[in-house]
Amino acid sequence: MYPKPRDFSLGLFKYKTSPGTLLPRDEDLFNTIKQGLPGTAMPGWGIKGRALLTDDQIHSLVPVIKGFDITQAWSPESAEDEDFDDDGFYIKTDFQIITDNEPLNSQVPYSDDSVTKGKEAFIKSCKECHGVAGRGNITSGKKLEDDWGNRIWPRDLTKPWTWRATQSSVSAEQEQDETIKAIYTRLSIGIPGTPMPAHRAIEEGNKDPVSLEDRWHIANYVYSLRLNTTQPEDGPVVTGLKVEDSLPDSITDDRWEQVPATTLHLVPNIIKDERLFTPLNDAITVRTLYNQNEIAFLLEVNDRTESRPGIDYFTDLQDANLEMYPDAVAIQFPHQEDYMSAPMVEKPLYRHGDNKHNTTIWYWNAGGVDPAREPAGALLDGSGPDKKLAMRMDDNSLAANGTWKEGQWRIMMKRPRDSGNGDVVFSEGTFIPISFANWDGSNGEMGSKHTLSTWYWLVLPPETDKIKVYGLPAGIALLVFMLGLMLVSNQRRKNH
Ligand code: HEC
Repeated sequence: MYPKPRDFSLGLFKYKTSPGTLLPRDEDLFNTIKQGLPGTAMPGWGIKGRALLTDDQIHSLVPVIKGFDITQAWSPESAEDEDFDDDGFYIKTDFQIITDNEPLNSQVPYSDDSVTKGKEAFIKSCKECHGVAGRGNITSGKKLEDDWGNRIWPRDLTKPWTWRATQSSVSAEQEQDETIKAIYTRLSIGIPGTPMPAHRAIEEGNKDPVSLEDRWHIANYVYSLRLNTTQPEDGPVVTGLKVEDSLPDSITDDRWEQVPATTLHLVPNIIKDERLFTPLNDAITVRTLYNQNEIAFLLEVNDRTESRPGIDYFTDLQDANLEMYPDAVAIQFPHQEDYMSAPMVEKPLYRHGDNKHNTTIWYWNAGGVDPAREPAGALLDGSGPDKKLAMRMDDNSLAANGTWKEGQWRIMMKRPRDSGNGDVVFSEGTFIPISFANWDGSNGEMGSKHTLSTWYWLVLPPETDKIKVYGLPAGIALLVFMLGLMLVSNQRRKNH
């Protein structure tokens, strides 16, 4: 698992609201059990509407957790030697209860001005781990480890759904204020057991002090990063936008900004060897543009490392036991004759189709520096999860290019809407299955070891229906005519 489950025996807890190095408050332990830790395997046990434990049951677990400690952290100061068993566990139940709270005074209200100041201070104090854009792409070149000796990556602050303990669970109106306070608390006391330092200088020798005012500005700025992302949705439809002129040739074309973005979950392949158990990239953002003849996709994947064999900086950041492979992405479609969206839904198996339902895979690979290999696109045919993919040697209809910047890949792929070869025809008004895959090369991802999405639907909205446009006035005309008839018949009745 990444990250690993907490070891309770050391009395060391990451997410807390008590100041400095004090043990967590009971509320902190309670909240972790109740809400879980998003972005990890730890589920919430008391989430409203689907609670597995009552609040009382969760409260009763707090002393159980304290009881696992072998460092005498939770036992009262008055404890005698005979209060501990041979293994060092405290055998009574009057554990310490911490009540101190990290102070939240002098809060600076959220404003554009504060966000701007916060960004400056963030770049000074946080960039080396969280990156200029907050995506967790380390710029110090240092590999990070936690106190338990495990590899650890700074949080991608642009992905709120992966934040462990710094988002509120309260109502929407209070959400902003609660979240900003939580960010402030977290950056003030740091995350114990991890390289994330405390920025409120209360202990002597604290190397990372940030003034009280700047900490509030930074909290406002970090909050602003949450607002500029699209959250992954369950079951969205990827919708294309039509343009009259030619499609963009590059990822930097301004027109991409006007296309609505859809973010989808990526999950690791744990079904078939070789499996992936420690994914780092969990989402892909998709934008679709098309014109009369062509269709283009812009894919964005937040990835902390530009993995292309031969870039020393990223090879040094990689775990020593892993091989460096090139990053890659793919989009998959069924062959035109091998799916149905109406009247019945029929789709290929999502991993490379099956013998009755073949798929076409648009693949792009980041290449390498040493040995030198240009980034390149390729078309592959899938005919089943256990069959080798067939690369098309003489089909050059896929145009693909991509760039990594500040912790994010942006990759564009473009092809004719009707390219023959039995491939799907991108017609307007039909629901077309679409799925995605990503390989994070520095995470050892290669072959079947990668993340992927399930099938979603792609739709190119049909052109405005002329009959409907004319239908509306015609309907109104009919209504007027019928009203007229009613009036006439009323008149007649009165006259009789
Ligand atoms: C030396 C590296 C380092 C520095 C410097 C650093 N962080 Fe972090 N930060 C981390 C790591 C590692 C984590 C993930 C720890 C974990 O939860 O396991 C993290 C996590 C976080 C989180 C996520 C909390 C959550 O609930 O998921 C926030 C917010 C955060 N950092 C903000 C900041 C801010 C703001 C600064 C600058 C004032 C900063 N960090 C400086 C390494 C760092």
